[in-house]
Amino acid sequence: MEQRHAGKVAVITGAAAGIGRAFALRLAREGAEVAVVDLNAADETMDELRAINARAASFQCDVSDPDQVARLGDEVENEFGRCDILVNNAGIFPSMPFAQMELKDWRHMLSVNLDSVFLVSKRFVGGMRERKWGRVVNMASNSFGQVAPGLTHYIAAKGGVIGFTRALASELGPEGITVNAIAPGFTRTEGTLNRPPNFRGQTSEQLYGILADRQAIPRAPMPEDMAGVLTWLVSSDADLITAQTFYVDGGLIRAS
Ligand SMILES: NC(=O)c1ccc[n+]([C@@H]2O[C@H](COP(=O)([O-])OP(=O)(O)OC[C@H]3O[C@@H](n4cnc5c(N)ncnc54)[C@H](O)[C@@H]3O)[C@@H](O)[C@H]2O)c1
Repeated sequence: MEQRHAGKVAVITGAAAGIGRAFALRLAREGAEVAVVDLNAADETMDELRAINARAASFQCDVSDPDQVARLGDEVENEFGRCDILVNNAGIFPSMPFAQMELKDWRHMLSVNLDSVFLVSKRFVGGMRERKWGRVVNMASNSFGQVAPGLTHYIAAKGGVIGFTRALASELGPEGITVNAIAPGFTRTEGTLNRPPNFRGQTSEQLYGILADRQAIPRAPMPEDMAGVLTWLVSSDADLITAQTFYVDGGLIRAS
């Protein structure tokens, strides 16, 4: 594979599983050094990275916690010297009808899925500014654009991610830093496979099929589909692409 990210350090949050793991592997295969960040131990990701002789290290961190993020920043800089590519991917997606939602549920969702994007970006963007080059990619969701009951807190957070992406891109464009978002469709990952049936009683396995039938390209999105977009976005081919949200969902949002 072309080593188009050689010499770059990528920090990927939520990289112990799912889309984040696919991101780590794809960028490493194309030459990036990778900081794997997750709340959980990232043994499987690290084993796969070692198997391809990647330069990588893992960091256990709750990205919604300001103190832990401050420590993460120091640890990453000690290990790799800097962060050139930041992927704010960590997220949770428990569904819950609005009628049952309490302020603590709302705040937890906003804290993990939106505060974290602010905190981790704030920690690493300064170094990118100094070097006049950087890439920030945030994970949104195509649920922002579709009928998705049970997800008011999640969609509010992801809408915030899309707004933050646009606004930060405006500020950082003159500094050589692009900021974009990827909005996946319902993707086959550990997180979706392990979640309980939704309030309509639909399992994730059923939902992959139901949604695929509504897509222009009728198959479930895979983590590797997201990684294909990410690797382009953080490459020099995407130098003039910023403030965008890319829906990677087989055309569900545009076609339905
Ligand atoms: N899978 C989908 O269908 C889908 C669709 C749209 C958007 N997304 C978004 O893509 C991202 C990744 O989703 P996924 O399906 O790969 O999820 P996943 O559950 O498979 O993996 C998410 C990873 O994030 C980690 N994580 C969770 N909270 C964290 C925290 N506070 N600090 C650090 N790490 C934390 C988890 O431990 C896990 O390893 C999320 O932001 C999600 O909202 C996913």
